[in-house]
Amino acid sequence: MLDETINQAVKILKSGGLVGLPTETVYGLAADATNAQALRKIFYAKQRPIDHPLIVHLANISQLSVWTSDVSAMALQLAHAYWPGPMTLILPKANGVSDLITGGQETVGIRIPRHPVAHALLTQFGHGVAAPSANRFGRISPTTADAVREELGDAVDIILDGGQSTVGIESTIIDVSCKTPVILRPGMISVADIEAVLQCPVAAKKDDAPRVSGSLASHYAPITPTSLIQRDHFQKLTEIRRSSVLLVREPVLIHHPFIEVVMMPNHPNAFAHDIYQTLRDLDKRHFEQIFIEAVPTSVEWDAVRDRLKRACGG
Ligand code: TXA
Ligand code: MG
Repeated sequence: MLDETINQAVKILKSGGLVGLPTETVYGLAADATNAQALRKIFYAKQRPIDHPLIVHLANISQLSVWTSDVSAMALQLAHAYWPGPMTLILPKANGVSDLITGGQETVGIRIPRHPVAHALLTQFGHGVAAPSANRFGRISPTTADAVREELGDAVDIILDGGQSTVGIESTIIDVSCKTPVILRPGMISVADIEAVLQCPVAAKKDDAPRVSGSLASHYAPITPTSLIQRDHFQKLTEIRRSSVLLVREPVLIHHPFIEVVMMPNHPNAFAHDIYQTLRDLDKRHFEQIFIEAVPTSVEWDAVRDRLKRACGG
């Protein structure tokens, strides 16, 4: 990407505008995290409820103390292991961090992304950048610059095209603001990856965990009604009389006038990389129904299973 384009995006951030920002997980809708007017624009553009907290993106670990009051040994271990990368840490907030960022909570979500364009912008801007995924509220996160344009159009002042996001689903969110770390949102960095670094068990999300908009049942949903189906129930599809598409991970013999079969990768990371863009493309083709072959219940598929469940409305 041209330095000139990054310069222009930095100027836009400084003047309170919104930037479509490529990251390795998904594209973000970025604003100066210290500018309340700019933050309000994010909520307006996304039509996102005002009490849903935003992740602050930083260029490097030395900026942490501006945003957090306490970085535990545990948090530092994870930071050194997985930043820059697809991980968000929930930490105790520093004094003065806006309620627009925290959703009125005592914690703040922080991420240092790895994508070179995100890194260049954050380094040059030099301050925290708030960036939720650049989709309208409840919709699928964008993984390309075109998808951001489709979602938000003129509401964003510039979109930096950094190619297709390599991870393809949102970052793993780990709450390290209390003694026991809790995974609030599964992602490419798995429970096993986190436990390997911390050398202690990591808890799954509790019901009273802090508010995470991605934890709403119907988050990340295509417009087309979508449901999961086990392979041994595929024969039921022969009764279908609506134009449908079936996403599978292994070949299947279905000759049916109403069903188109689409092959997906049979590896969790490759599947994650493709799934949002595939659903976005299928939405445009106006099928009446999307069926997705259920993925394995093993831990490697946790993050994908989570997103598919939400795509189906919980
Ligand atoms: O991969 C990602 O995390 C992308 C890229 C752009 O960085 N961002 C992203 O942001 O997915 P968003 O806003 O779509 O999802 C972030 C989630 C939200 O569900 C929000 O509720 C949660 O993080 N979150 C942010 N701050 C939090 C906090 N202090 N406590 C609990 N959850 C928090
Ligand atoms: Mg989101």
